[in-house]
Amino acid sequence: MSKPRLQGKVAIIMGAASGIGEATAKLFAEHGAFVIIADIQDELGNQVVSSIGPEKASYRHCDVRDEKQVEETVAYAIEKYGSLDIMYSNAGVAGPVGTILDLDMAQFDRTIATNLAGSVMAVKYAARVMVANKIRGSIICTTSTASTVGGSGPHAYTISKHGLLGLVRSAASELGKHGIRVNCVSPFGVATPFSAGTINDVEGFVCKVANLKGIVLKAKHVAEAALFLASDESAYVSGHDLVVDGGFTAVTNVMSMLEGHG
Ligand SMILES: NC(=O)c1ccc[n+]([C@@H]2O[C@H](COP(=O)([O-])OP(=O)(O)OC[C@H]3O[C@@H](n4cnc5c(N)ncnc54)[C@H](O)[C@@H]3O)[C@@H](O)[C@H]2O)c1
Repeated sequence: MSKPRLQGKVAIIMGAASGIGEATAKLFAEHGAFVIIADIQDELGNQVVSSIGPEKASYRHCDVRDEKQVEETVAYAIEKYGSLDIMYSNAGVAGPVGTILDLDMAQFDRTIATNLAGSVMAVKYAARVMVANKIRGSIICTTSTASTVGGSGPHAYTISKHGLLGLVRSAASELGKHGIRVNCVSPFGVATPFSAGTINDVEGFVCKVANLKGIVLKAKHVAEAALFLASDESAYVSGHDLVVDGGFTAVTNVMSMLEGHG
């Protein structure tokens, strides 16, 4: 492996028991970070710790909808490792699927509570300790293609992920003076328990609708983008939405529908 890019850094990853968070926890640890796996799936979270090794990782039960648990998870990082250099707010749920005409407002609230309010609290408590301890930290959120375009996710989900983009930009505007960077990573579809809950044959469907052909997006690709944002290689990058979508949100294929235009 090339030089470790997070040597000695301390990272909390919310939603790290599975999928993108799990892949990122493993990659951050490979690059020398101490990683706190924070999630509500205790058994899976502890399995991730075992696969990384308890000297490099630990598990914390943290429901991101509960402010006290978020605060305590951040306090745990300081208590156990003496710092918090990276907060990766990645926990998320797909929320209700269906027409806006019948949107269930209780389900809408639950989606916002996890995807948006959970990240607001992760940013709030991470920034508090970073500012207080003069840590030039990196805060990252997992957004989505549904943060920039409508119709690539269910309604409540799309609304929550658009809100996250506002959180990232707003927090970046205040925290810049403390040397704290705030960014997000926006994946296209990845086969994880999250996406499998709403789509059959996730990879088949994603490949069909993707702009970039000949490659299947994996959790590891998203983890690589998060690693860049966590590391000093992105030292001057803040307020940025790093899309990992093969161009999906940057292009429309209208021209190709015209005869003679590819
Ligand atoms: N998989 C995709 O296609 C895709 C695309 C774009 C964005 N995303 C985003 O990526 C992030 C990770 O999703 P994933 O695909 O790896 O799915 P996943 O289901 O594998 O992982 C999500 C994790 O979040 C945890 N979680 C859910 N609610 C929580 C809560 N209240 N408190 C703490 N943890 C909680 C789950 O237990 C799970 O471990 C999500 O924010 C999702 O919106 C996923």
